Amino acid sequence: MTTLTVTPMTQPLGAEISGIDLGKANGETIDRLQDLLSQHLVLLFRDQTLSDEQLVTVSGLFGKLDVPAPNPFGEPFHKGHPEINVISNIVSDGKPAGNLGAGEAVWHADMTYKETPPRAAILYALQVPDAGGNTYFADMYQAYEALPDDLKSEVEGKLAIHDASHNSAGIKRKGYAEITDVRETPGARHPLVRIDPTTGRKALFLGRRPRSYIPGLSVADSDRLLDRLWAHIDNPNFYMCHEWRVGDALMWSNQEVLHRRDSFDADAKRLMHRTQIRHFHSDQAKSSAA
Ligand code: OGA
Ligand code: MN
Repeated sequence: MTTLTVTPMTQPLGAEISGIDLGKANGETIDRLQDLLSQHLVLLFRDQTLSDEQLVTVSGLFGKLDVPAPNPFGEPFHKGHPEINVISNIVSDGKPAGNLGAGEAVWHADMTYKETPPRAAILYALQVPDAGGNTYFADMYQAYEALPDDLKSEVEGKLAIHDASHNSAGIKRKGYAEITDVRETPGARHPLVRIDPTTGRKALFLGRRPRSYIPGLSVADSDRLLDRLWAHIDNPNFYMCHEWRVGDALMWSNQEVLHRRDSFDADAKRLMHRTQIRHFHSDQAKSSAA
């Protein structure tokens, strides 16, 4: 078996894993990485050289992959591998090569507008700007545990709507109308408190702030509670910052971690390939055995 070195980050979450070529990872290594992901929530692998094929293969060893939303023309961003989501500001022949442009991407977790959001994602850096475009990851277990008592009781038993109509760069998705009343926001409703099915540990589950709404409250009360929660989580005690290098592969646990990205110079080029793992094979095996 590969000898992995695990170096926890000197930040509130995350670990760097070295001594591994992800393109050649086998089943035993994948099990180990899954345990490490539960423990650290974000795993960084530096100096990887992954072909698209290898990225899809290693991601598929963890579990079933989700296919990302298509480009504005209704086509996959990556024609050869539709499971790959392209995150890029590059425009060629008038067509965006990927999602999210060069602006800020606000705090969010991926695809939480679905009933079952992806379990994890892997983002692999192919081209990075000299400055900017850092990505931040916030631990929603620690954020929940640090809530003041009044907020802890206020979030209990409440749901929030997770907006399906806009992406994290604030761009409206194809086929959705502009939202004028948050009570009509389309998207899945999830409990504000997520309970890990294995450990019973509680995490805040917020998705994204714009157009979110807590059913059953007046819009004003919903906004007040959501604003307090979002002010609470945006705190360096709960988040880490990643400065990208080409060859970095970064994996995160999507249901317990929020991420956001800084803007960068629109003339610089940034190109990342992402896969999203719907669920882990081992979680499926456990739930079908139960
Ligand atoms: C994503 C995302 C942030 C980044 O891939 O889901 O939000 O750093 N990307 O580009
Ligand atoms: Mn994202």
